[in-house]
Amino acid sequence: MFSARLDAGAVQNELAILLDKKRKLGVAICDLICSNPTKCDFDFYSSIDRREFSSSDILRYDPQPFSHVNLRKKVAGLIGVEDESGIVAASSTSELYSWILKLLCDPGDDILVPAPGYPLFGQLASLDSVDCHSYSLIYENDKWSLDIKRIRHSIGNRTKAICVVSPNNPTGSYLTEPELTELSSICNEFNLALIVDEVFFDYRLALGDKNPITASSNKECLTFVLNGLSKMLCLPQVKLGWMNVSGPDEKRSEALRRLEFIADAYLPVSALIVSAFSSLIDKREIIQREVLERINKNWHILKEFSDRHGWRMLDSEGGWYACVRVGKDSWRFAIDLLDRCDTYIHPGCFYDFREDDVLVFSLIVQTNLLTEGLGRISA
Ligand SMILES: Cc1ncc(COP(=O)(O)O)c(C=O)c1O
Repeated sequence: MFSARLDAGAVQNELAILLDKKRKLGVAICDLICSNPTKCDFDFYSSIDRREFSSSDILRYDPQPFSHVNLRKKVAGLIGVEDESGIVAASSTSELYSWILKLLCDPGDDILVPAPGYPLFGQLASLDSVDCHSYSLIYENDKWSLDIKRIRHSIGNRTKAICVVSPNNPTGSYLTEPELTELSSICNEFNLALIVDEVFFDYRLALGDKNPITASSNKECLTFVLNGLSKMLCLPQVKLGWMNVSGPDEKRSEALRRLEFIADAYLPVSALIVSAFSSLIDKREIIQREVLERINKNWHILKEFSDRHGWRMLDSEGGWYACVRVGKDSWRFAIDLLDRCDTYIHPGCFYDFREDDVLVFSLIVQTNLLTEGLGRISA
């Protein structure tokens, strides 16, 4: 009866079973990988007025496939592109990934995704009957970079796109200008599209000394750059994502023409968010200031703890995560920490790390929760 897209045999892993069991027993878990900002006790939420979602505009229905032109114009201004013609909004970046896959791929085609990387790529792709093949990020001389040679070798005759996350989740590495140039030329050579996920773009750590580049205006190859309110304003529950489509004129217009068909089938984002968008965006600075303060502070606490305990924190330039090499099997260690200290941290294998001794922490958790968790581990 059911589609083969869903893995019927999928079972919960040992860590998830243990977590469920503890939660059902009412154990207070010290969750050091929480990345739901609404559970991280930020003060800025009190500055968001619910009345922003109650404009009289919401009583008129004016369906435009890529969403209301005013919203698209605001997004274009926000990300610094010429105009709104390439801006497509949807209810999340996850939905936009699905539209891009529908646009580019037939069942059985594949896309290349980074490893270590965002764990949801596999699921999103499989829901569209698309395969994910990973390419490695290399960690050398305390810096992450794309393994361009490996990307070339991973391209098969059914590959349709290369995905990059900048800064990457969880390694925190930004795409560099030379990497963007090389990727664009590979995409042109093999007739592929480039997908750049910039949802964490604004969260550059104070330690990172460079100004990251955005791929938003890349005209060298067909490029989709994704972002949204989920991370930009820490409002995943508001449900708004967007992308800018850029590239050589002919490919870009053809992509937009076909995307319009897809978008039209799903109908545009809620009028509630369209009406609230501009006042929400005005809060961007207040929101990001508090988040950046938190992630920088947590980064230093974790670094200091790592140095004292013989762990090694991997370099990061931005984003909401920190990766630490702990010098022992991180899968068993994560289970042990949850079992014995009620402290929940992800092992690197969830993100496809090659090394088996990496733990991944969230940097947006309340600082006192992080110190409490580290205290438990130390004890
Ligand atoms: C790299 C990356 N892209 C996209 C998303 C999902 O964003 P959205 O809520 O817009 O679907 C996440 C969520 O954690 C993410 O880590």
